[in-house]
Amino acid sequence: MTLTFDPVLSHHAPEVVEFLTSNEWPFHGSPRLTAETAASVAVGGDDVAAFWVREDGRTVGLVRAFDLDDVVEGSPLVDLRIAAADRGRGVGTGALTWLTGHLFANFPAMHRIEATTRGDNVAMQQVFERCGWRQEGRMVEAWRQADGTRHDALTYAILRRESSTRSDRSSQGPRVYDAEPMRPRPGRPNGRVIVPTEHDPPGPAFFEWELRAQEWSDEHPHDEWVYVLEGELHVEADGVGVVGTTGVLIRVPAGSRGTYRAPVHARILSVYGPRSSLAVDPHGVLRVLGS
Ligand SMILES: CC(C)(COP(=O)(O)OP(=O)(O)OC[C@H]1O[C@@H](n2cnc3c(N)ncnc32)[C@H](O)[C@@H]1OP(=O)(O)O)[C@@H](O)C(=O)NCCC(=O)NCCS
Repeated sequence: MTLTFDPVLSHHAPEVVEFLTSNEWPFHGSPRLTAETAASVAVGGDDVAAFWVREDGRTVGLVRAFDLDDVVEGSPLVDLRIAAADRGRGVGTGALTWLTGHLFANFPAMHRIEATTRGDNVAMQQVFERCGWRQEGRMVEAWRQADGTRHDALTYAILRRESSTRSDRSSQGPRVYDAEPMRPRPGRPNGRVIVPTEHDPPGPAFFEWELRAQEWSDEHPHDEWVYVLEGELHVEADGVGVVGTTGVLIRVPAGSRGTYRAPVHARILSVYGPRSSLAVDPHGVLRVLGS
């Protein structure tokens, strides 16, 4: 599974409401949200960071961190919401692993991160355990649902040193990252993506893709390193055009819109990163040459 994480921006408000109202949240205070209550869920501001969880460009979750205005004295909190159809597939584990690493990497003064979950939310407890978070307490009947029923609230936390020990441990020895099969994706070139999600600090994303009498253009905030595995690839960016054949490496600088054209065929390995935000430009354009 390849997950990417995109910041929730202010103009995403309708998408946030749509995501929150089209799924049920059985372990939150209100399992079903109206458009009005969904619109009041904080996804921006100085003390909140919110990210879409995407799989191949498809939204599968929304994760948030709060209380980021006091990372020295306080303990920021996190909240995970995975789309109902995508629960139980490892998305929550991937998302919490990424969010934990992202927060410690981006807030150097942050000492610990906390979360609270309902006593019967077994899936969330499993996710915490799998991600190395520690259960710190059970507050008996402290959780009151909107319908008045009460549940125990469990508190979890992870310290910076616990998180870095985990990532140190996981970085010892070689590690294999699953590569999905090459496959056509609507509006995108045939290809596959490998994003090592748990790495802290974030490393690059890797794409193997091909063009057959096609042209792809996209924009990206990071350098993209394009290695031609086979064929002939024409690349243009900032008004400069180059041609690469098998074994040639081309860099498209950060901030440019790159156009990649294969008059006949090219198979390419792209290395792009750090992939802290968008790994794939959702506005990229695929064109069949001659059409
Ligand atoms: C809780 C939630 C974030 C977990 O994410 P997820 O993607 O469903 O969980 P994962 O697929 O990563 O599963 C992690 C573990 O939990 C287990 N699990 C998943 N769903 C489960 C369930 N309903 N009951 C018991 N165990 C479950 C998985 O088997 C896995 O354990 P394993 O590795 O030992 O097999 C997600 O289900 C969700 O968004 N639920 C609704 C919102 C919510 O409750 N958020 C938490 C607020 S604190």
